[in-house]
Amino acid sequence: MTKTLLMLPGDGIGPEVTAQARRVAERLIEQGLALDIGEARFGGVAIDADGMPLTADTLTLAKASDAVLMGAVGGPQWADQPYGNRPEAGLLALRSGMNVYANLRPALCFAALADASSLKRALVEGLDILFVRELTGGVYFGEPRGIETLPDGQRRGVNTHVYTTSEIQRVARTAFALARGRKGEVVSAEKSNVMEAGLLWREEVQALRDAEYPDIRLTHMLADNMAMQLVKNPKQFDVILTDNLFGDMLSDEAGMLTGSLGMLPSAAIGDAGMPGLYEPIHGSAPDIAGRGVANPSASILSLAMALRYSLGAPELAAKVEAAVEAALDGGARTADLGGTMTTAAMGDAVLAHLA
Ligand code: NAD
Ligand code: IPM
Ligand code: MN
Repeated sequence: MTKTLLMLPGDGIGPEVTAQARRVAERLIEQGLALDIGEARFGGVAIDADGMPLTADTLTLAKASDAVLMGAVGGPQWADQPYGNRPEAGLLALRSGMNVYANLRPALCFAALADASSLKRALVEGLDILFVRELTGGVYFGEPRGIETLPDGQRRGVNTHVYTTSEIQRVARTAFALARGRKGEVVSAEKSNVMEAGLLWREEVQALRDAEYPDIRLTHMLADNMAMQLVKNPKQFDVILTDNLFGDMLSDEAGMLTGSLGMLPSAAIGDAGMPGLYEPIHGSAPDIAGRGVANPSASILSLAMALRYSLGAPELAAKVEAAVEAALDGGARTADLGGTMTTAAMGDAVLAHLA
């Protein structure tokens, strides 16, 4: 059966990096992969054309596809949009609308990049962490939220950090199940010392492990300590389970351990059989957009994750990952990795290993 991939290039460097992922997908199609590729407007470009970052038609298309490959959204052009109509709000609506509650963010240090990290080689060589970040709840979505004016004229900004049992259990299940295919070790991060939602998180994760995953070694770590441990001794971690906000911050931190934020892909998945959303963890990088110098690796590796988790082609996922690795081994480097290659040249280098 032919599968369908919807591309949402988005803003800034989004179209630049997804163009390279598309070349990779097209090469695989030439080699026999049964895949139809579609494309839609999303983010700031959709605000400009359609008045909103995510139209109902685009969400319907996304939900009807097997996988969605997003580039990045946002930029200074849309900073004066009402809050709920910003590109980033469109991304939250897409994640929520697709019900992709588990965000897999692997932080893998390729051997060729062990000296590109801001940490010493010995600390990052062979690094292989899998973040499982809760993606459709927590303070990103909690109610009440907003900015209000108080009787004394002050303004007050409100967001609510909230989790329910089922929201915690379903993402924890994903983390435990994935840990079984790895070292079987999960570290769960929260702030149970200061937040009730963090305490509930710790209790529910522990209870689920005890009831259904007794073979998994589970430990709990306060999120501030984890931020420190990630730069002190990152190789102590196998699977890291976090809420939405801590996962956002800690995975960017882990990005630098691998050499560049431009290397980190992600997969957002929900219940079995439902479409997944794949995107680099980096943003639209307005500081380098339009110059053709962004690193497309995270986007290409996100396509690989789509092949593995949504498109039923794990062997092609491994092939694409090996091609990125071989390109790096051969010295291919964009500016973020200390090289001089353009985005397209980096794409060429990967394609050269997909003969
Ligand atoms: P960013 O991730 O866009 O950029 C941070 C730094 O990393 C910049 O110096 C940038 O040049 C560099 N960088 C990022 N990706 C790179 C790549 N592929 N190759 C080389 N260098 C790369 O974060 P920011 O600057 O804080 O945010 C910019 C905009 O992107 C904001 O509007 C933000 O909301 C949005 N954003 C979107 C997403 C997303 O779409 N998933 C993620 C993060 C941020
Ligand atoms: C990410 C981004 C998003 C997030 C923003 C753009 C909504 O930072 O994908 O990491 O905070 O989840
Ligand atoms: Mn982020």
